[in-house]
Amino acid sequence: MILESKKFIRIVTDYLLAEDRIIDFNIYAKPPNSNKPVLLIAANTNIANIKDVLARKNHGPLFITQDSSMKFENFMEESLDSIIKNPTIPLEQKSSIVHACATNIIRDVFDDPRSGKNISRAKNITSNIIDLTLADTQSIRHLLRLGSHHYYTFSHCVNVAVFGVGLWLMIRKGDDTELHDFTLGCILHDVGKSQILDSILNKPGKLDFEEFEIIKKHPGQGHWLMAKHASEITLDVILHHHEKINGNGYPHGLKRDQISDNAKIATIADVYDALTTNRPYGGARRPLSALTLMKKEMVGHFEQKRFEEFILFLGGRSA
Ligand SMILES: [Fe+2]
Ligand SMILES: [Fe+2]
Repeated sequence: MILESKKFIRIVTDYLLAEDRIIDFNIYAKPPNSNKPVLLIAANTNIANIKDVLARKNHGPLFITQDSSMKFENFMEESLDSIIKNPTIPLEQKSSIVHACATNIIRDVFDDPRSGKNISRAKNITSNIIDLTLADTQSIRHLLRLGSHHYYTFSHCVNVAVFGVGLWLMIRKGDDTELHDFTLGCILHDVGKSQILDSILNKPGKLDFEEFEIIKKHPGQGHWLMAKHASEITLDVILHHHEKINGNGYPHGLKRDQISDNAKIATIADVYDALTTNRPYGGARRPLSALTLMKKEMVGHFEQKRFEEFILFLGGRSA
């Protein structure tokens, strides 16, 4: 039984086994003797009824068609709670599913930052990231390994949230409600960039004065976009993640105690992730090189105590 000439996307399936739900997309398999995927499980099938088929794993790799990728993403997102709680799914795989969902959600938030649905998805994935890291802090390592070059902006947002949660858990500050709102601020910190042209965002060379003035508007634009949807804690992180303790940051040129602790943590995570990831305007630095640059060439940018704690966090030790 074959198919329409469609584009196929390979999927991993182990987590599908966790579900007792009806899928609304077709799943195809590529048996060893076939060079084209063939239909294995039709839409409207309950996964619980075909667990044996999936578990045998003799069907070869599994695929969905590109035009059902939205449905598949929704299915994954709706399954996240049970996936995270399922002890039979390896941590590495859970992390990869959470990261994939988070990246997709941030992509959609950037596409339509005014959509209440997208913002509530961002809130849910923030809870999922926190749940996963609370269940096992090793997931932080896995989550950070999963950046995608093609989706630099989106995986950067996820990484800043993961670094933020990691540092927060290490210093154990505040209660869980604040942790959620802070992490949401981290994941949405650059949402104002959705209002900036790609030609400026992805410019390979140095930005000229006017372009940089446009970039400098993104914290304020992010704050404006999220004002009706997010708490003060979240909005503060979005608005102040480019402030520096010496007062030379933007948009307000706040100094030292005028900047919240949350914003100070987000700033460190933001700069470190930007330095250690491949971007249009520069290759990735090694962790030590990034930290050395932050220490020697960015004097006055960060709160010293938090910066030292961040170094300890990266080294996997407690302060
Ligand atoms: Fe930013
Ligand atoms: Fe950023």
